[in-house]
Amino acid sequence: MMEHIVAHSLLVCRVALLLTDRLHAHDIPLNRDLIRAGALLHDITKTRSIKTGEMHTETGAEVLIREGYPEVADLVRQHVRLDVSTENGTPTEAEVVNYADKRVLHDQVALMTDRLGYILERYGATSEYRARIQETWKRAEELEEKIFRYLDISPDQVAELIPLEQARGELADFQKWMRPKVDY
Ligand SMILES: [Fe+2]
Repeated sequence: MMEHIVAHSLLVCRVALLLTDRLHAHDIPLNRDLIRAGALLHDITKTRSIKTGEMHTETGAEVLIREGYPEVADLVRQHVRLDVSTENGTPTEAEVVNYADKRVLHDQVALMTDRLGYILERYGATSEYRARIQETWKRAEELEEKIFRYLDISPDQVAELIPLEQARGELADFQKWMRPKVDY
């Protein structure tokens, strides 16, 4: 896996778990271990996909099904687009991972609008792609509203609540090709 994708995945995990813990505090039931696994593994085939052009959401899920982790596979498959968007009901594990991914641009916590600008520039070559991206984004905005309805922080407060030093320490461990000392 390319190093910047490792950095991205670690930070997506940080964001996802921050939201999970705060949702837990408001009595929203979520499987924290499942979210952690889904966030860390969501781009598992992304590096390969850059060469092969494969759909990394689909192939990432296939890898995890093959390895015997169908629930994690389900989150990986839905990390770009959710199967269903529900305005009602409490946030789900798939929604938390999907949203967290949209809040991390490279190795920084960003606002969704910043990441949208980047995605449009990088992947919005045709008007059809652009329309698809805009549609995904509209759903992401609705999801953001849904998640933060249950929280007492606002989306722009997420960045300051992430322990960046710790996140950088994890990355340094990966860079040394050591087993990371990840302690969530
Ligand atoms: Fe991805």
